[in-house]
Amino acid sequence: MASLSITKPLDILMQEAQETGEHSLKRTLGPISLVMLGIGAIIGAGLFVRTAAAIADRGGPSVTIAFMVAGIGCAVAGLCYGEFASMIPVAGSAYTYSYCTMGELVAWIIGWDLVLEYAVGAATVSIGWSEYFNRVLGWFGLPIPYQWSHSPLQVSDTGIRGILNVPALFILLLLTGLLIKGTKESAIVNAFIVVLKVMIVILVISIGWGFINPANHTPFIPAPTTYVTMQGISHHYGGMLGILGAAGVVFFAFIGFDAVSTAAQEAKNPKRDMPIGILGSLVVCTILYVLFSYVLSGVATVEDFRSTGREASVAFAITKYMHGYEWLSKSVTVAILAGFSSVILVMLLGQSRVFYSMSKDGLVPRIFSDVHPRFRTPYKSNLLFFVFTGIFAGLLPEDIVGEMTSIGTLFAFVLVCIGVWILRRRRPDLPRAFKVPAVPFVSTAGVIVCGAMIYGLGWTNWLRLIVWLVIGLVFYFSYGRRHSKVQGVPVPAVREHAPNMAD
Ligand code: ALA
Repeated sequence: MASLSITKPLDILMQEAQETGEHSLKRTLGPISLVMLGIGAIIGAGLFVRTAAAIADRGGPSVTIAFMVAGIGCAVAGLCYGEFASMIPVAGSAYTYSYCTMGELVAWIIGWDLVLEYAVGAATVSIGWSEYFNRVLGWFGLPIPYQWSHSPLQVSDTGIRGILNVPALFILLLLTGLLIKGTKESAIVNAFIVVLKVMIVILVISIGWGFINPANHTPFIPAPTTYVTMQGISHHYGGMLGILGAAGVVFFAFIGFDAVSTAAQEAKNPKRDMPIGILGSLVVCTILYVLFSYVLSGVATVEDFRSTGREASVAFAITKYMHGYEWLSKSVTVAILAGFSSVILVMLLGQSRVFYSMSKDGLVPRIFSDVHPRFRTPYKSNLLFFVFTGIFAGLLPEDIVGEMTSIGTLFAFVLVCIGVWILRRRRPDLPRAFKVPAVPFVSTAGVIVCGAMIYGLGWTNWLRLIVWLVIGLVFYFSYGRRHSKVQGVPVPAVREHAPNMAD
């Protein structure tokens, strides 16, 4: 048992950080840049695709309240991330934090679970990308046929069954190629995309406000009932459970704020600016999301989102109800394509970063930290994850992968909230530049809110999470534990090249 809770010594971590050149990162990011970084990683398919799914399947207009619930859960988890990021002064993720503090087994569970957040999350956004991309092709009269732009689990209104989502595979392959080549996403392009995304959201809110049909908002919280989706999955619709389920679904829209914590070493004044970056981007996004979902659920009907309007939902609602704003529908579509691409890139990068660390620790095979001799990127890992994400993106509908991402991330957040509290008791001596206020009250509130969203996602999703974690545990006990460096088992010699993860 003791070996399962073995921790990775902090000094080794610092040494490794030096080896990979992380100490040479320049401290250039101030509070505004950090907030921008967060918003860039946050706004994506969650808002422009998942909102419609949450309205249709779970809560109708009460999705507006669901966004507030999800925002609160994320704010608390964000505070906990802030404390970890300020305590363990290397660029990292929940995996690294937990390895040096809560032990190998918890670290493994979080690392394995993060595959759901990053890799399956990238698959989800690529499916959303495919919907909007097909809309663009439609302008030129060249849409990809339904069969080749949908999964086998989807059937069109006219009875055509999907075979493979080719555009989703295309964007994943393209961005995997970019990651392998190490093409830098320049700060300017990133900032440009962020401004574009925020502008589009504000435009849709301000113009759409005038097109709200009060009938669509009545009743604001629908009476509790059951809704069975096209895939035959039944959900609680309406009432409290509908709101909780919708919160679990739209929670996807907030994922990405933890990306700010990975920039700890690039912040000019991390002690002050990390919490500002994490919480600032969350506050901005929550306000935008609440207003946006209020407008979207007011402009189009629940029935729209249950049928044709589910795909490329924002563009659909504008085209159908906001006459005279065809230009807005077109610009939204183009901006969304750009915005989704940057989110996918960040998620794929995050995935390779986590598995790179796990591989260096010996917990997953070395292939995940093999570095390309010229590009200095973990190309084999990128290719393997292309195959993995491709299977999800090509063969499953967006609802299923999106909800798997939400539940996986919520689970990681629950562990991080618990971890903050455990560490306060076990290691009160560790210096913490930033502290979550009122622990254990706030951290417990995080566990309860995130736990409630997990509950709202329903048993199909619990089952998927459990199956994923069981597969992970089998892998850990048959491979990871035996090869763990920290457990003292030698692994093959140190590689010559460290990847240039900033690329
Ligand atoms: N929050 C990101 C999105 O909504 C993952 O696409």
